Amino acid sequence: MRHFLKLSDFSKDELLEMINLAIKIKKETKARKFVPYLEHQTLGMIFEKSSTRTRVSFEVGIYQLGGIGLFLSKNDLQLGRGEPLKDTARVISSMFDMIMIRTYEHSNLEEFASYSKVPVINGLSDSYHPVQLMADYLTMIELGKNNNPIVAYVGDGNNMAHSWLNLAAIMGFELRIATPKGYECDENIVQKAKELAKSSGAKLILINDPKEAIKGADVVTTDTWVSMGQEDEKEKRIKDFKGFMVDSSMMALAKKDAIFLHCLPAYRGYEVSEEVFEAHANEIFLEAENRLHAQKGIMVWLDKQRG
Ligand code: CP
Ligand code: NVA
Repeated sequence: MRHFLKLSDFSKDELLEMINLAIKIKKETKARKFVPYLEHQTLGMIFEKSSTRTRVSFEVGIYQLGGIGLFLSKNDLQLGRGEPLKDTARVISSMFDMIMIRTYEHSNLEEFASYSKVPVINGLSDSYHPVQLMADYLTMIELGKNNNPIVAYVGDGNNMAHSWLNLAAIMGFELRIATPKGYECDENIVQKAKELAKSSGAKLILINDPKEAIKGADVVTTDTWVSMGQEDEKEKRIKDFKGFMVDSSMMALAKKDAIFLHCLPAYRGYEVSEEVFEAHANEIFLEAENRLHAQKGIMVWLDKQRG
């Protein structure tokens, strides 16, 4: 049995198997052919933070695969009143076939998984957002940007930046991350990704100059400057991130046919300008839709692993 907590727990071949499943199931879904790969299976979805895309895509996804999802808000669970995570894990993993969790500290996920009898999927932690990156990679494939691309991530050294590091390190492409000083990626995660990059040939460049990162890029991406849980730092962050908005003059430095991705929700006038966002809306909303398809691939793959 495998869990899906972070991309660096998987080989390139394993991630590509999940993506290929996603491509196959997407094709079937588009033809309105709903194959019950996970018939009668149940997915528990624990949310400690808000969500639009993650909740909807997992709930619709498991249903279209022949199963059912149950949304569990932390506040409605005894977990919110102090029942230990490890007890919650032992109880609900005796009833669900798979569990997705969106939480704060990544160690919560690891603890939950260590007590769970069924596969656990990371639906975002403070450190990683791996299911998002699977959708992003699927989108890159569909838009023809997966062949040795240069990807530029401009913004906060957060869960999205960390997951991009892992994706690039495994798939072997060039990733340039530009963060303001003081908002760099976690050094431990960077070092582990650099270790992985040695065998894949990935080039990981971490700098503080957004223009240098974007120059000649095939894919430009960013994320909110204020992640969930950082609301108190909003004012300071907006000041510190000055000069990091992806606007038309920044995009003009990328390749002519560069695409722009954003995991959403997007804050126009901060990490991205309205003009860039709307010019690339087709790419961004394809990326959002691909959450549904990529996660189906992940769930079906995880189910296969238990034999
Ligand atoms: N991108 C993403 O995970 O969106 P939600 O927070 O709406 O789930
Ligand atoms: N970095 C953001 C991603 C939201 C999908 C957050 O953690 O809030």
